[in-house]
Amino acid sequence: MDSKSQISGKLSEICPNGRVSSGISGLDKMLNGGIPQGHIVVVMGDPGTGKTTLALQYIHDGLDKGESCIYISIEEEKDSLISTAASYGWELQEYIENNKLEFLKLDLSDIKTLARRIRVELPELIESSGASRIAIDSISLFNIMFDNSIESRIRLVELNKTVKNSGVTALYTSETSMKNLFHSKDGIIEYSADGILFLQQSEIASDIRLVLRIIKMRRTLHDRLYRPYDITENGIIVYPTEMVFVDEGTGV
Ligand SMILES: Nc1ncnc2c1ncn2[C@@H]1O[C@H](COP(=O)(O)OP(=O)(O)OP(=O)(O)O)[C@@H](O)[C@H]1O
Ligand SMILES: [Mg+2]
Repeated sequence: MDSKSQISGKLSEICPNGRVSSGISGLDKMLNGGIPQGHIVVVMGDPGTGKTTLALQYIHDGLDKGESCIYISIEEEKDSLISTAASYGWELQEYIENNKLEFLKLDLSDIKTLARRIRVELPELIESSGASRIAIDSISLFNIMFDNSIESRIRLVELNKTVKNSGVTALYTSETSMKNLFHSKDGIIEYSADGILFLQQSEIASDIRLVLRIIKMRRTLHDRLYRPYDITENGIIVYPTEMVFVDEGTGV
């Protein structure tokens, strides 16, 4: 058996129904059972809407189920993320020590080393780790690491190819565009992603609510309505049957 079929055999044992839990039961309901295995899903949202929390929750859920996972952080330090996760009650240190969680921090200040790490280290890590889940926080920062938009597009295509070949189910966080609602800041990632989750802070009847919408999710039925969610001390909770009415004309 070649290594690719070995990986896909192992991954189908991990998720026999072909779905990977997002780590949030309400969101899994909206997704008709979870994220289709092998997808690249972008969590797009304004500052403070819980993108990093969702990425950590997704990774912690995999670790909790005995899976191997990778977290790639751009800019945010490992210790800071470990503390953020701990504030939700998710202890990551032991998983790092037991080699269940590979943590890679990419530093924007050292461009020369960075280029090598993205070209060599990152694909090696994804291919060799046998991980079933990966989070990249954030893909917007990944895209601004390169000199021009053509190079960032080439690198993104390479990254996606590596992710797809490895069979890992990926969650990328992304900042939203100020000009185009439902689009990312760089306007690239939404077209190559299999799924897009859109997180928003919305003013509803003079109250501020966090709302979530699934913009796209290939190869599955899914809910398309805005649903409210909360960021609690135990992480994100999505209310998959609650209705909210958002005025898209006002942007946020
Ligand atoms: N331990 C906690 N318990 C409850 N709520 C928290 C906790 N930690 C953070 N929050 C809430 O989550 C928000 C930030 O979430 P998070 O950092 O995941 O957002 P983000 O979208 O990644 O933000 P950014 O755009 O800055 O990267 C905070 O502003 C706060 O409201
Ligand atoms: Mg963040």
